[in-house]
Amino acid sequence: MQYRKFGRLDWQGSALGFGAMRLPTLEARPLGVSTHEMANVDELVAIDMIRAAIDAGVNYVDTARPYHQGQSEIVVGKALRDGYRSKIKLATKLSSGWVKKEEDFDTNLDAQLERLQTDHIDMYLLHGLQDKRWRELQALGVFEWAERAIADGRIGHLGFSFHDELPLFREIVDAYDWTSCQILYNYMDIEFQAGMEGLKYAANKGLAITIMEPLRGGQLARTPPQSVAEIWNEAEIQRTPADWALQWLWNQPEVSLVLSGMSTPDQVAQNVASAERSGVGSLSSRELGLVDRAREAFRSLSPIPCTDCKYCQPCPQGVDIPRVFATYNQKVMYGEQGAGITAFSDYGRSAKQSKQCIACGQCEAVCPQLIGIIEWLKTVAAYLTAPNA
Ligand SMILES: NC(=O)c1ccc[n+]([C@@H]2O[C@H](COP(=O)([O-])OP(=O)(O)OC[C@H]3O[C@@H](n4cnc5c(N)ncnc54)[C@H](OP(=O)(O)O)[C@@H]3O)[C@@H](O)[C@H]2O)c1
Repeated sequence: MQYRKFGRLDWQGSALGFGAMRLPTLEARPLGVSTHEMANVDELVAIDMIRAAIDAGVNYVDTARPYHQGQSEIVVGKALRDGYRSKIKLATKLSSGWVKKEEDFDTNLDAQLERLQTDHIDMYLLHGLQDKRWRELQALGVFEWAERAIADGRIGHLGFSFHDELPLFREIVDAYDWTSCQILYNYMDIEFQAGMEGLKYAANKGLAITIMEPLRGGQLARTPPQSVAEIWNEAEIQRTPADWALQWLWNQPEVSLVLSGMSTPDQVAQNVASAERSGVGSLSSRELGLVDRAREAFRSLSPIPCTDCKYCQPCPQGVDIPRVFATYNQKVMYGEQGAGITAFSDYGRSAKQSKQCIACGQCEAVCPQLIGIIEWLKTVAAYLTAPNA
């Protein structure tokens, strides 16, 4: 395993961290349901995977109370028994929904400690900060509370994860002496949310930066469309799509640690092997050029930047927005319009649902990707219901 400087801490984090948001589940994932929404985690496999990663040198595990409908923290707690807890830094998050008033900070943290079977959280992150949540937490006195929890040893360090635009990111970075921040970043999303500029800004201020959604929730790891595959084929060193995405991140000195939400033992083995080959500046300028071209090739094919996080769900009109968008993106990416309704199991439902939007805007208010959902649904409806679709 390769280890990297972790901000100002006198501690080195493994290049790869274990993100416990997409653990294996006992039943197959139904269409339209995201892995992290499924509660039926396959505990035995998940525990083996987390321990295998730690045995291979991973020393950072990231979870949050909402993942897998509350099961992630519990399974991580079980995985960290038998001496594994002391081998890693444990990160979990202060998620909205559990803290409405000041007293809730303690109640929530104590419940998390119990679920995780530990007496302290090394990295406690204010979860998914967006403007409204950031102001609410400050008004509730989050910093005064966190200082007390740090003083009594329940929290090691305070950080935040982020889902809003760059100016707010800068404001938050400057507002407190954070140890770390977690940002959505991958070779497709370099100007999105904090993006590359935010990464450099926070690193320059001494924060450790952990990366979430490095594979865009798996989108960058799948078999690429022909135009992207042809670009990868030009490389002297052949890599899997996942390896390209991960190496591009590790190539950057500002990246402290890449979290991947691995869902199979094989993915753990592959990503550990990738991490072992990683290093700052390890990609050649020619390889970096290939990544730039792959980005452009994807961009020219995949119009809606939905990562299937499901924050927009449920829609009051019953529109499964991520599913409708995925159908549209894939049809556009693979040039499937005109292939006929019977060829795509999800096509008929998506076409119907895309027309149910009444523009209430509830979805746009919570979308971490800030997608103009209402306008896109109109575009999708027109596309999917076109006479030749
Ligand atoms: N703070 C926040 O708001 C927030 C938000 C998102 C994530 N996070 C954290 O960041 C972590 C990482 O984000 P993420 O889970 O979205 O990571 P990711 O690495 O972008 O996506 C994980 C998915 O990629 C696929 N994958 C991983 N390794 C692969 C490989 N070697 N080959 C093929 N496919 C592979 C799997 O998809 P399949 O399951 O489809 O095979 C897996 O479920 C999360 O687990 C969570 O801890 C935090």
